[in-house]
Amino acid sequence: MKTRLVVFAAGMMASIALSAHAGGDPVAGKQKAAACQACHGMDGIGVTPQFPTLAGQFPDYLVRALSDYKSGQRKNAIMAGFAANLTPQDMEDLASFYASRKNGLYVKQAPGMR
Ligand code: HEC
Repeated sequence: MKTRLVVFAAGMMASIALSAHAGGDPVAGKQKAAACQACHGMDGIGVTPQFPTLAGQFPDYLVRALSDYKSGQRKNAIMAGFAANLTPQDMEDLASFYASRKNGLYVKQAPGMR
């Protein structure tokens, strides 16, 4: 029973570690994020509330948002321009970089939340 639990825990950790890097390269993403810093901050924390925080967001959410801006499914004049030039690999890399950044917001909110 104890062994099974350890194996299960190890499996969970492996899948969490893998999902954090699925498809994208965070190091390449960091370089590509230079174009995004003016609004989304160095580490993906929006510089003002009008710019959404990307840090700690799920990578598949970020990829979806970027591809929707590119396709026009999601409409925003600013982001349409930035997403237009991104390849699917760019989106994966950017998403894995931002997903790997720490987002202090959830930690700060946690104590008051039920
Ligand atoms: C000039 C400012 C600006 C720059 C530069 C910029 N963005 Fe954005 N971004 C925005 C704004 C404003 C929004 C909110 C748009 C909306 O309401 O859909 C946004 C939204 C997003 C979202 C959706 C977030 C969410 O929570 O749904 C993603 C992902 C994103 N940007 C990624 C990027 C990436 C990657 C780059 C660089 C290639 C970039 N942005 C460059 C202003 C900017």
